[in-house]
Amino acid sequence: MANILTRTANNVFDWVTARAPGMMPAYRKHMTEYYAPKNFNIWYYFGSLALLVLVNQIVTGIFLTMHFKPSAAEAFSSVEYIMRDVEWGWLIRYMHSTGASLFFIVVYLHMFRGLLYGSYQKPRELVWILGMLIYLVLMAEAFMGYVLPWGQMSFWGAKVIISLFGAIPVIGNGLTEWIMGDYLPGDATLNRFFALHVIALPLVLLLLVVLHLGALHEVGSNNPDGVDTKHGPKGNRWDANKPVDTIPFHPYYTVKDLVGVGFFLILAAFIIFFAPAMGGWFLEHDNFTEANRLVTPEHIKPVWYYTPYYAMLRVIPDKLGGVIVMFAAIAILFLVPWLDRCKVKSVRYRGWISKLMLAVLAVCFVWLGKIGAGPGTDPVETIIGRVLTFLYFVFFITMPLWTKLDKTKPVPDRVTMHD
Ligand code: HEM
Repeated sequence: MANILTRTANNVFDWVTARAPGMMPAYRKHMTEYYAPKNFNIWYYFGSLALLVLVNQIVTGIFLTMHFKPSAAEAFSSVEYIMRDVEWGWLIRYMHSTGASLFFIVVYLHMFRGLLYGSYQKPRELVWILGMLIYLVLMAEAFMGYVLPWGQMSFWGAKVIISLFGAIPVIGNGLTEWIMGDYLPGDATLNRFFALHVIALPLVLLLLVVLHLGALHEVGSNNPDGVDTKHGPKGNRWDANKPVDTIPFHPYYTVKDLVGVGFFLILAAFIIFFAPAMGGWFLEHDNFTEANRLVTPEHIKPVWYYTPYYAMLRVIPDKLGGVIVMFAAIAILFLVPWLDRCKVKSVRYRGWISKLMLAVLAVCFVWLGKIGAGPGTDPVETIIGRVLTFLYFVFFITMPLWTKLDKTKPVPDRVTMHD
């Protein structure tokens, strides 16, 4: 029996290879003959986990679309129907809504890894730029998704965020109306956001992810030491007398990544089953009430993954100024490969200035996130928010300076292993 199966599989394989001879070489190039540094640590799990969550969002999204009604009159009740009456509907919905937050947790850690190990430095600038484009599209995708259930926060969040475009001189008001298709978020807004959320942006996202990985595989992965790996024509057989720097991605890293997937799934299941709304952080309480244009929620705030930028918007007294600062905070991330002038990639071999600055950036981002999630009425918090926003920009604007000034340590010639 096993023999017949093997023979059939081989025949199918030969049949396909005869008709598409480029397929196997492509598989080898990206899997069995993609040589990755052997010193990856847990920070390297988040790329494959981001892929896993992307697939989860697409699969659960398809099932939600089968029951969701994209109209202002029916959207909210169709989500209630999914939660109460559709078989396993509650699970599919929570896998999708909690999955969105998990996506951002994974992506933020993935980006921070890039900052830790200088993965954006030459020759990986393009990998970083494509990653940043993914981040932008992901934010738009999540924003439009949040509007779809047509709860109070969907409606008011959409109104506040789309109205930001109104701050642009001359074209602002026209642009706001054009995006909403109305004077307030309504049926037209919901319909177009549905179209963009379920098909247009996921396609762009998938394309960008393919380009992101394609660009990475052209230059090869960086690693926690930030040193170039030495390899010969057969990848890991550089010098028979020295230990090798790289190992084939498949099977070694596919198997290692499965360990990360196992841990992640346990954690994700725990959150999805026991705290899917995470006390209002992943799904706000106000969104369990249907949208009502006559009743404004007490505090309008976006989901946690936007709150650092939202805090920046709120602590700047001028509306246009706030909008500019908020967009600049995201845009400046694109420039990191050119702002960093350090000749050493990894934080392991950088001096105390780089370590301190990275810590300052992380604290600013998290603290701003907390301020942005609050009511925004405390004047002391507003002052703190301004200082944190200032420090956030100091990190980037003075980066060419402190990365040059920082005293680096000697970098090893080969990758190192920490057992
Ligand atoms: C849907 C979102 C994303 C997916 C699925 C994704 C996927 C991946 C994968 C599978 C890898 C290789 C494995 C690894 O190094 O962890 C990788 C590497 C990388 N990604 Fe992403 N990524 C995403 C978003 C981003 C974002 C937002 C950025 C930064 C702006 C980014 C920057 C990078 C960099 C710099 C590398 C190379 C890291 C190195 O070699 O050290 N990625 N990505």
